[in-house]
Amino acid sequence: MGELFTGRGCGKFIVFGEHAVVYGRPALAASLPQGAVVQLRRAASPQWHAESPAGPLAPNDQVHRAVTALLDHFGLSLDNLAIDVGFDIPIGAGLGSSAALAVALARGAADLCGLTGDERQGRIESAVAASEAVFHGKASGIDQQAAYGGGFFRFQRRADGPLVEAIAAPPHRWYIAPVAPSASTADMVAGVADRRRESPTEFASYFDAIAEVTDAGQTALGRGDWQRLGQLMDRNQALLQSIGVSTPVLDKACEAARSAGALGAKLTGAGGGGCIVALADAETPMADALADFGPVYAFDLP
Ligand code: PMV
Repeated sequence: MGELFTGRGCGKFIVFGEHAVVYGRPALAASLPQGAVVQLRRAASPQWHAESPAGPLAPNDQVHRAVTALLDHFGLSLDNLAIDVGFDIPIGAGLGSSAALAVALARGAADLCGLTGDERQGRIESAVAASEAVFHGKASGIDQQAAYGGGFFRFQRRADGPLVEAIAAPPHRWYIAPVAPSASTADMVAGVADRRRESPTEFASYFDAIAEVTDAGQTALGRGDWQRLGQLMDRNQALLQSIGVSTPVLDKACEAARSAGALGAKLTGAGGGGCIVALADAETPMADALADFGPVYAFDLP
């Protein structure tokens, strides 16, 4: 049996700016302490085992292609590795599970290959980008950034690489609830691109308005001005409705969270299904409020 190597990657949620970030506007996201842990070792024959909170996960064609593309960057192949993956976030729900897996696997693979320093980091980044390219169409790279860890951050796409700024925030409770089956991020991004082509001026003003919300949200988050932050989340949700990525179920879940006392709520990620994020204190009965929609995860961040 080969030596066992372990890598970790973090999940994430987007606080402000999804979709607009694809078009160069800033976004604000949080790395979660939870995500994916990968253990791998060289083996005589291929072995794959993956477990999510919902049970074992068979490697579908997309996972197979993404993992193959990633391992290729290390000169490794699925044929002679034993890989064990554990997720402690829901899969395919807009919480960055694919990027968390990619970063965890790339970190483990880099150690297995004995890489160090800048070469290690460079190889990890290109391998993760190759894997994420399989899962997402025109991806901004925000999921990858979050998967490396590090709390709240502002992210802006630039031609010469992303601009990333860490944001210090006072602690608060955040709730994430997967309320509907997820849509494909690539399809949702493509849908926005189509509608933008038809109404470029309108979409530019939606994206600008989302950028203003993100800037104001960064200030509110840094100050711990939770009332204001909640209002801005609601405003971002209204703008996400305008660009056509919310759904009646996502809207209803946001309303249910607000009625139960949340300061603000919005979809998080690509939309079309998936998760909402709500800001509320620990006493707010969020699990009861969203019981009709599914499970609710509470995170105290940072
Ligand atoms: O991967 P998701 O579902 O969390 O969505 C990522 C956010 C988008 O802005 C919709 C796409 C992107 O690449 O930034």
